Amino acid sequence: MSELAERQRARVFFTWSAQATAQPLEIVRGQGATFWTADGARWLDLCSTTWNANLGHGHPRMREALHRAADQAFVAGPTAAYPDKLRAGELLAEIAPRGLAKSFLCLGGAEANENAIKMARLLTGRRKVVARNRSYHGATLAMLSLSGDPRRDAFEPGLPGIVRLADPYCYRCPMGKQRETCAIECADDLETVLLREGPETVAAVVVEGIVGANGVFIPREGYLRRLRELCDHHGVLLIADEVLSGFGRTGRWFAVDHEGVVPDLLTCAKGLTGGYAPGGAVLVHERIARHFDDHVLLCGLTTYAHPVTCAAIVGAIEAYRDERLIERAASLGAWWRPRLDAFAKAHEFVGEVRGLGLLFALELVRPGTREPQPADAMSRVYAALRARHVHLFKRDNLVYLAPPLVSTEAELDEGLSRVTEALEEALAP
Ligand SMILES: Cc1ncc(COP(=O)(O)O)c(C=O)c1O
Repeated sequence: MSELAERQRARVFFTWSAQATAQPLEIVRGQGATFWTADGARWLDLCSTTWNANLGHGHPRMREALHRAADQAFVAGPTAAYPDKLRAGELLAEIAPRGLAKSFLCLGGAEANENAIKMARLLTGRRKVVARNRSYHGATLAMLSLSGDPRRDAFEPGLPGIVRLADPYCYRCPMGKQRETCAIECADDLETVLLREGPETVAAVVVEGIVGANGVFIPREGYLRRLRELCDHHGVLLIADEVLSGFGRTGRWFAVDHEGVVPDLLTCAKGLTGGYAPGGAVLVHERIARHFDDHVLLCGLTTYAHPVTCAAIVGAIEAYRDERLIERAASLGAWWRPRLDAFAKAHEFVGEVRGLGLLFALELVRPGTREPQPADAMSRVYAALRARHVHLFKRDNLVYLAPPLVSTEAELDEGLSRVTEALEEALAP
């Protein structure tokens, strides 16, 4: 570890880790899917940093956008009007699913979700929110309690009124179905939940467009449409959390676009600014936005629609559009997929590869079974990946691959061969 990283340990906390065990990297430079650390090592970023660097590192367009915002150096309060704020709202309305015409601009994913739920409660006057068993919606107290994620345990009891829904986790189907017999019963579970709770008590259903950090679940075609139909039938709002799955990650602007589903509210962050500035947004359907024309919107922080955030949103959306990066994610993902499948077929410790666009998970199992690889084996995996300078996200028995949309085929090839070597070293008998 570099001297700077070691000194920093004493003064600044690391997130989600015991402080003594964190292993910070001193990154000095980055380009595309590659970054370099102070010791001269060349790393491959197969997780787009924190699933947010969709535009990769060192993107010239973002450098330019941030310079422009810094040069203006004005302090704008939440109610200020200025060109980048208008442009951010206009661009978001252009790329959003049809009808999501107005944006609430904030600093990150958890804050976007908090505000979406506040809007749903303000609009409906109801309290309950349905969320999946396995899901992640952010680290604030309320969003952790909404999350179907064991990390919420330490903070229970959290937000009251959270009701759980089955997951579209086909490899370990919660409804006990096989692919051949599946009639998307996990979507119908919403009907059971709503009838049990009383739909008139439920403000909204919140689902990730594609479940990210809890396993990359790719539902059967028709799943999201079924949720939309059930929400319409019972008069409940549908909120799509596209914080991780948005901005091209799955090969479309948003994961809901794969099924042409229009949620009532859509939350985003991460790829929204490509990680170059803090940023989050709630994209709101015009019929909901109209409600707040004459009802007070009890939402907003001091840094609402910050000038640096707005400049980064504008720069990022223009880069995605002008460089056709959403299309690139789809074609690069289609190119990589057979290579990942071939790797999985050749190694019994890979139970399943699942993914869409440039969002993949490898589910690692004991060879010949569906039993998850144990924690000690996964620690070896982590060490072997690190030794090969591969940056990726790993959790339980899952290894995630989510490279920047600007990655080259050569970087992905090299990434897969480093991952192959690491997993063989850590898990081969
Ligand atoms: C689906 C999803 N929602 C919300 C969040 C929270 O975003 P943030 O960390 O920007 O608050 C995340 C972060 O990983 C996420 O993956």
